[in-house]
Amino acid sequence: MKNLLLGIALSIALIGCAEKKDQAAKGPASDIATGKAYAEKACKACHGLDGKGVAPAIPHLAAQRERYLLVSLMEYKDGKRTHAALRNMTKNMSDADMRNIAAYYANQPPVVNAAATDVKHSSPYEEGKKLAAVCAKCHEQDGNAKVPGTPSLAGQQPHYLVAAIQEYHQGERATPAMKGMLRDASKLELESMALYFAAQTPVKRTDETHRGDPKAGEPATAMCGGCHGARGVSVDAATPSLAGQDARYLVKSTKSYRTIRKNWGMQRYVAGLGDKEIDDIAAFYAAQQPQAADQVPSSTRDLAEKCNRCHDPENPGMVAPKMRGQDKDYLVMALRAYRDDKRESSAMHRMSFPYSNAIIESLAHWYASQPAR
Ligand code: HEC
Ligand code: HEC
Ligand code: HEC
Ligand code: HEC
Repeated sequence: MKNLLLGIALSIALIGCAEKKDQAAKGPASDIATGKAYAEKACKACHGLDGKGVAPAIPHLAAQRERYLLVSLMEYKDGKRTHAALRNMTKNMSDADMRNIAAYYANQPPVVNAAATDVKHSSPYEEGKKLAAVCAKCHEQDGNAKVPGTPSLAGQQPHYLVAAIQEYHQGERATPAMKGMLRDASKLELESMALYFAAQTPVKRTDETHRGDPKAGEPATAMCGGCHGARGVSVDAATPSLAGQDARYLVKSTKSYRTIRKNWGMQRYVAGLGDKEIDDIAAFYAAQQPQAADQVPSSTRDLAEKCNRCHDPENPGMVAPKMRGQDKDYLVMALRAYRDDKRESSAMHRMSFPYSNAIIESLAHWYASQPAR
């Protein structure tokens, strides 16, 4: 249902863009020289006369798609984009002013970035892998733990992992083993570890010493499947997969919703379960085949592939801006704005909504370090 609505919203947005584009195409020819004079007067201080943002977080406009520049200016004027300075500035601009200036900046040569930095270092997966070395003692390097009572992390839903790690970090889940492990990690580091583990292939646990009876447990799992997925493979980024997880850990974590762990949904569903039932349900889930979380791309480049569908200069159908060589801080800011509902775009919102800060950071870094074209 959600997808359907998004689909409809997207087609409406696309129709809107197409109309705007047609108007722009049919309008009077733009005048680059007049655009330059205007830029000299009103834009140069921040965007330079060459279209290179003069400070971090100011976007480069040089060689950007003309239509995108025009649409952005209209959106500032209409209040759809809310940046105060730009709103003020566009208030008094006529359609002709906007067309001219868009033509001027679009026709400047692309900004040459300072020597492209090494992107590998910013990949959250690589970072996460390094950081995860200290977890390997208990969770194994690939996240498939072997010690009974210690959960596997491989293939787990990434948002859930981030939330779980933060609960230990903030001391909400008190466990001597985990306590102190994460004390000094930054938010970005936590996310990087979560992404690394989420991208690993999960293996079913083999500890057979648990007490429950999987057959007896199965019927009760009907009420869990709505959230945890059929046979415990979750399709929701914030809900953990249970399939193939260590049975002892499942028992302990289920019971912990009676005491320390707080989650309204879980507390409600496990409140009525007896100890025997919990053992059986855990045995059922432990016996299921685990599957890695969907949509966990394994590198920044994989992710960028998805974006390039709309953003690459070769794709003439979209009003999506070019991003290669764009200012990194500006890209981070723009992506966070879409994700946090501060900037509207049905196409972008759908793309950037599930992205963590670590992914945003790495995508922005990747695009900023590509030569503009
Ligand atoms: C005071 C500094 C400043 C001045 C002067 C300024 N801008 Fe900007 N401009 C910015 C900042 C900061 C942003 C990013 C705003 C945001 O987050 O929406 C921006 C964004 C833009 C964008 C959107 C780019 C994109 O990639 O989405 C366009 C187009 C733009 N400016 C055009 C202009 C034009 C044309 C002028 C002159 C009439 C101008 N700006 C003057 C600071 C400035
Ligand atoms: C000394 C052994 C040990 C080390 C080292 C360790 N863990 Fe754990 N971890 C555990 C145990 C035991 C649990 C289960 C605790 C509980 O019952 O709440 C756990 C639970 C977790 C969970 C919760 C999983 C879930 O399904 O809710 C996450 C996430 C996690 N650890 C991540 C990490 C990360 C990341 C590191 C490295 C920075 C790490 N752990 C290091 C023993 C360890
Ligand atoms: C309304 C949705 C919902 C239902 C129904 C539900 N769960 Fe959950 N479950 C969640 C969410 C969300 C979490 C993560 C909560 C958190 O962050 O502590 C969770 C966490 C868990 C965990 C902890 C996993 C881990 O890795 O630490 C277990 C075990 C679990 N659920 C078992 C069950 C069982 C068994 C049932 C059925 C009796 C059930 N859940 C029903 C939403 C649900
Ligand atoms: C379905 C097409 C589509 C896909 C896929 C897509 N985008 Fe976009 N993107 C757009 C459109 C259209 C805009 C302009 C929206 C607006 O005006 O706010 C945009 C705008 C942006 C901006 C703002 C740039 C600026 O100059 O202000 C950023 C940053 C961005 N996208 C990043 C991404 C990233 C990263 C991905 C991949 C994870 C992605 N996009 C995938 C269509 C798409």
